[in-house]
Amino acid sequence: MRPGYFLLIVLLLSLQSGFSQSLSNRYSEFFTIGVAITPRSTTTDEAKLIVSQFNSVTAENAMKMGPVHPQEDQYNWAGPDSIVAFAQSSGMKVRGHTLVWHNQTPAWIFKDANGQEVNKEILLKRLKEHITTVVTRYRGKIYAWDVVNEAISDNPNEYLRNSNWLKICGPEYINLAFQWAHDADPDAILFYNDYNETDPVKREKIYRLISELKSQGVPVSGLGLQAHWNIYHPSAAQIDSALQLYSKLNVNLQVTELDLSVYPSGPDSTFKPGTIPAEFTPQQEQKQIEKYREIFAIFRKYKKQITSITFWNISDRRSWLDNFPVRGRKNYPLLFDKDLKPKRAFDAVMNFQ
Ligand code: G3I
Repeated sequence: MRPGYFLLIVLLLSLQSGFSQSLSNRYSEFFTIGVAITPRSTTTDEAKLIVSQFNSVTAENAMKMGPVHPQEDQYNWAGPDSIVAFAQSSGMKVRGHTLVWHNQTPAWIFKDANGQEVNKEILLKRLKEHITTVVTRYRGKIYAWDVVNEAISDNPNEYLRNSNWLKICGPEYINLAFQWAHDADPDAILFYNDYNETDPVKREKIYRLISELKSQGVPVSGLGLQAHWNIYHPSAAQIDSALQLYSKLNVNLQVTELDLSVYPSGPDSTFKPGTIPAEFTPQQEQKQIEKYREIFAIFRKYKKQITSITFWNISDRRSWLDNFPVRGRKNYPLLFDKDLKPKRAFDAVMNFQ
């Protein structure tokens, strides 16, 4: 081969590898790669990493009912607006999170003027007003909404979570939430979003809920799999079985809150509070590399059904898993370290045929 050709090939290969040094570029043929962020992170050194590596953002907390609507006549738009403006200036998509959830709800919404539990009619009126106001504000700027979050019970003997929403309104709050979101923005993709989505019992309940909503003509067009997993669980087979089942729903599938905790789920008898923060061990790192490689191979297999993979938090600098469920215990669940540098698990996600 003439030397000039060889150099040209080397140059092209290095350019190609340079261009695809970002997750969003490397996966441009597969799905959007997103990240959950805070308003503050759009103003720190994290902003550069967000823009360079991802092409979608989700507000970790700022758009939830409690933070955005703390009083009946008060909306806090500064946080959500800053995230939307940041995304728009960087050509990134925005996922809205979340319109109705049993957690981070403001105290006022379930109380009437006398401080007693509110009745169904008033609560539904308040929910409609909240959804209509928030979705209308971001119409054309937020392409997908987690409309209902975690409405299914983790109790194997229970279908829907016995939240205040269910207790006061009955299951119709789910149908109505989707309808009101659709009325406010007919172009938005509307998701049901949940965790433990690969559990054999819960996945059947999720499948049942989406099927029933669709059969009732409810405008649910997406299913969000939170994917708060760890380096031990779930198995490749469990993930594949769940995606195989959900693919039959013919809705937009998205992984919405991906992180791989370096600990098994549940309490940790090995960790003594007050000891130095747990270090990221070579054994944990090796298992995390293998697990990230494994799950992204499965995600690529379902590229026709999966349209976005969003990581929950930006880097190991801060994760919602720090101190949860074990107080004082540091976690290392993401692809970038505390200095925002790619970990070896990043390479495992980037390097595939
Ligand atoms: O903003 C207040 C602050 O004013 C106060 O000083 C501080 C101390 O109490 O709390 C701050 O609020 C915290 C909030 O995060 C913002 O940092 C809440 O206490 C804390 O509970 C809340 O945690 C969030 C959690 O949802 C709430 O359940 C996590 O950051 C967030 O990552 C997590 O995200 C959820 C998804 O929305 C749904 N799927 C599960 C996922 C993990 O729980």
